[in-house]
Amino acid sequence: GRMIDPAYIVEVALGLLRRRNDLEGLHVLITSGANHEPIDPVRYIGNRSSGKMGYALAKEALDRGAKVTVVTGPADVAPPLAAHVVHAETALDMRDAVLKHLPEADFVIGAAAVADYRIAEPARTKRKKDGQGITLKLIENPDVISEVALRKRDDQIVAGFAAETNDLIENARAKLNKKHLDLIVANEVGGKDSAIGADAVRATLLTPDGAVDALPLLEKSALAERIFDRLLALRARNRRGATV
Ligand code: C5P
Repeated sequence: GRMIDPAYIVEVALGLLRRRNDLEGLHVLITSGANHEPIDPVRYIGNRSSGKMGYALAKEALDRGAKVTVVTGPADVAPPLAAHVVHAETALDMRDAVLKHLPEADFVIGAAAVADYRIAEPARTKRKKDGQGITLKLIENPDVISEVALRKRDDQIVAGFAAETNDLIENARAKLNKKHLDLIVANEVGGKDSAIGADAVRATLLTPDGAVDALPLLEKSALAERIFDRLLALRARNRRGATV
């Protein structure tokens, strides 16, 4: 007898009012937010990812008729209510959740700021101060989106982000190649249009065929729209290629 959350009703109603339904029948898997890597049961190292880009991508995909799974680390914004949300605190949690949901995904988008390092041996009990300071040994985490790209089927399309402070295009292209992605969204960070935590970003879309599509300053919601337009075009090309 309890009324459904009004925010959910508004979200679904606005989605229904949108004309496009070009993601209907497709499943989108998105990583979003930050990671918290434990130092001990009460402390962690983390990063400043807000989760806004992952939110915008999830919202856009839902509005266009997709089924959406968001694997989210800690973030300032919660994923849309209509998404299937899986919480993952650490990079290892995130990898497990993503690989579990990979088989049903048509598109995988890595928007999370996955922690590159974790504490080698987190303490089981709260560390006590002893006047000596501490040295933490960090070890590298797996690269989630690279693992996805290595394991994916030919019909699945994988996109990632590259946040760069300098040599944006060269660095992003190197990541696109190294991670075997189908698309990379390059964002400049650190400058006046820094993408981190912002509502609007200036992004460039790069694909393995050499195409470079520099977009104007866009709200993250508008950028999400462009990203799905591009992913659908890649899928159409893939499918044509598969039938020839
Ligand atoms: O290498 P870098 O962190 O700049 O790459 C960013 C892209 O790779 C993002 O799409 C991010 O989600 C993904 N990534 C990942 N696992 C990591 C590091 C980055 O999936 N350990």
